[in-house]
Amino acid sequence: MSKVKTSFVCNECGVDHVQWQGQCNACGTWNSLREMRLPARAARTDRIGAAGPRVATLCDLEAKPAVRISTGIGELNRVLGGGLVPGSAVLLGGDPGAGKSTLLLQVSAHVSTQRQVLYITGEESLDQLAMRARRLHLEDRKLSICSETAVESIIRVAESQTPDLLVIDSVQTVHTQVTGSAPGTVAQVRESAALLVQFAKRTGASLILIGHVNKEGNLAGPKVLEHMIDCFIMLESGADPRFRNLRGLKNRFGAVGELGMFAMLEDGLREIANPSAIFLNQNADPAAGSVVTVFWEGSRPILVEVQALVDSCQGGYARRVTVGFEQNRLILQLAVLHKHGGLIMADQDVFLNVVGGLKVTETASDLAVLLAILSSLRFRPLPRDLIAFGEVGLSGEIRPVSHGQERLREAQRHGFRQALIPEGNRPKGDHGAFGELAIHPVRRLTEALEWAGAIF
Ligand code: TYD
Ligand code: MG
Repeated sequence: MSKVKTSFVCNECGVDHVQWQGQCNACGTWNSLREMRLPARAARTDRIGAAGPRVATLCDLEAKPAVRISTGIGELNRVLGGGLVPGSAVLLGGDPGAGKSTLLLQVSAHVSTQRQVLYITGEESLDQLAMRARRLHLEDRKLSICSETAVESIIRVAESQTPDLLVIDSVQTVHTQVTGSAPGTVAQVRESAALLVQFAKRTGASLILIGHVNKEGNLAGPKVLEHMIDCFIMLESGADPRFRNLRGLKNRFGAVGELGMFAMLEDGLREIANPSAIFLNQNADPAAGSVVTVFWEGSRPILVEVQALVDSCQGGYARRVTVGFEQNRLILQLAVLHKHGGLIMADQDVFLNVVGGLKVTETASDLAVLLAILSSLRFRPLPRDLIAFGEVGLSGEIRPVSHGQERLREAQRHGFRQALIPEGNRPKGDHGAFGELAIHPVRRLTEALEWAGAIF
């Protein structure tokens, strides 16, 4: 019989303590330790057997070509690094109502056309799920669905069904007998997830766990889950309620920082394969204070409009208000504009907005921000077919940015005709143009301002 040890687990961060104490050693939360019974380590190692684990030499190991299961949604495949890996565990986090169940029902329905899928719903009844499937026009799919919350029963069902994809909606509703704590507590989430991950690794099933975010924006027991799983992706609602962003926060099989974009429609989530087209309004008349830039998000360029409004200050300190852009960076850019461009901004309020609710964290947007400010200050529009990117340094130099060629190609693809870019990003073997796109490389801010002044 396996021995059981008693441990005291923090309800906030999931770290173990040997004895009860008032404050968690790891996260410092008071009164968060709960007693929990776990199978002792000795009992766990019993399973390894007398021979012990196999030791291999790295050079003798064969790297098996990664087989990926396509989710049927290009944006999700990209965030996962090419699709689902058999035997891996993915955690999908997000606020309630973000669309996690919707997304995974769509994925499960797609995968079920070729493989065995088991969808465990602990939150909704089978009737509710059927209603959702009807809304998504997926009611005719051969998808195995089970309403169950006990991990032991889930694993028993999964063993008989041998799914290629196992979805648990959600990890907070399931519970195991291994620990006596209530469902939803960190101890339960941790032990339940561990059993399910073990099942996936043992059988080669691909596991997706849905996790809720708590009021502070953390998953319950984020640390414990994060090192157990292979990928952590997060579905977020942006400033515009119609759109959802899917972000890759951890990925053992691909790059992190990937961003997938979706629109929430009447019949489910639809991927936005070409986000630049959504965030641009190329038919609009030229407006003062508006400049398009190309920013790099994950592994692709996105065209986005930066808008500035500069207005004389009505007493007090001049305001610097930003939406989708870091305020300190704006203050810094205004200082550069004053010192190297000779423009006095101390008596001007400056408002800056990135259109479409996007957040631009890249320094590559500096040049576009300064041009937008200048355009608003002079109340003269810049041409609609212009894009600008480049980092502006404190000594007034325009510094090159990564992926210059890809950014230019994206601008060219969307019909832009002029690009103001850093000299360091000038395409090699260039004769001043990139197809239809005329390129104006600049070294210093003064050059950029002169160029802009000439076309105003
Ligand atoms: P849901 O997938 O239930 O979110 P989660 O599982 O992350 O809590 O999605 C809930 C929201 O999505 C809800 O506000 C209704 C909306 N929705 C649509 O707009 N279209 C649809 O086709 C579906 C199924 C939901
Ligand atoms: Mg749900």
